[in-house]
Amino acid sequence: MTLLAVAVRGRGAVDPDEPVLAADDEALLRGRAAFETTRVYGGRPFKLDEHLARLAGSAERIGLPPVQIEECTELALTALEAADTPDAVLRLYWTAGREGSGEPTGLALVSTIPAHLDDLRARGIKLVSLPLGLEADLRAFAPWLLGGVKSTSYAVNMAAEAEARRRGADDAVFLASGDVVLEGPVTNVWWRLDRVLYTPALELGILAGVTRATLIAASAELGYEVREGAFPLSHVASAEEAFTSSSVREVMPVVELDGEQLGAGLPGSATRELQAALRAAAVA
Ligand SMILES: Cc1ncc(COP(=O)(O)O)c(C=O)c1O
Repeated sequence: MTLLAVAVRGRGAVDPDEPVLAADDEALLRGRAAFETTRVYGGRPFKLDEHLARLAGSAERIGLPPVQIEECTELALTALEAADTPDAVLRLYWTAGREGSGEPTGLALVSTIPAHLDDLRARGIKLVSLPLGLEADLRAFAPWLLGGVKSTSYAVNMAAEAEARRRGADDAVFLASGDVVLEGPVTNVWWRLDRVLYTPALELGILAGVTRATLIAASAELGYEVREGAFPLSHVASAEEAFTSSSVREVMPVVELDGEQLGAGLPGSATRELQAALRAAAVA
């Protein structure tokens, strides 16, 4: 991704090459920051209000100063105007600010869309499962583990992506104890058997994907039943098709799991239908 525009709380649009964080910003020192990523279609960020609501929730869980929704909206629009491009990735950051200051840092970044996503969507991705070593229900009653929180402490998630690539795959799926399927490092995970779509329940402490919610609504319209729950990896392995969902990657077909072909080994019909439905919702 190439950075096209940056807007900073209290300053407005700045040159994207200009440094904007102090050395003692808590985001850098301790990863105490929340963020959001959304896709911009035709100049409009998809479901910005939902992303801002999630940002506010993440900030509260991390113990950051409360997110100023209007300020963040303004920041996003300022960065988008400066980027002046119809299709892009918008990222919003809300940090604890400089150490001891209590004054949050807010940033909006607009970048190009990663170039390889359409190629990956056409061929489908290979997933590997990686255990987290947590009991499936632990994060529901252990708020300090920040389950379901989109914080910038994503080093583990990025290390999981790197491990997947090291094993010759494209992406990872995290497992709780008992091989219970959770989510990908930056995606939610889905699979289909007949007319039923399965996806892990939010009670497992996974992120409440905005795309996930959009697809749940779209699935009903397309005549699929959606079952949310705690499912073992073997259930995914025996599915007819599988896919991941996220704002930037959208609906991404999975054709291989842990080195074994999944379903027909090709992007599936529900994947295609839901990708089309997501695009339709985005430009409506
Ligand atoms: C851990 C995790 N799960 C799921 C998602 C998908 O969420 P969304 O559809 O809101 O992009 C993300 C997005 O970055 C994520 O980081």
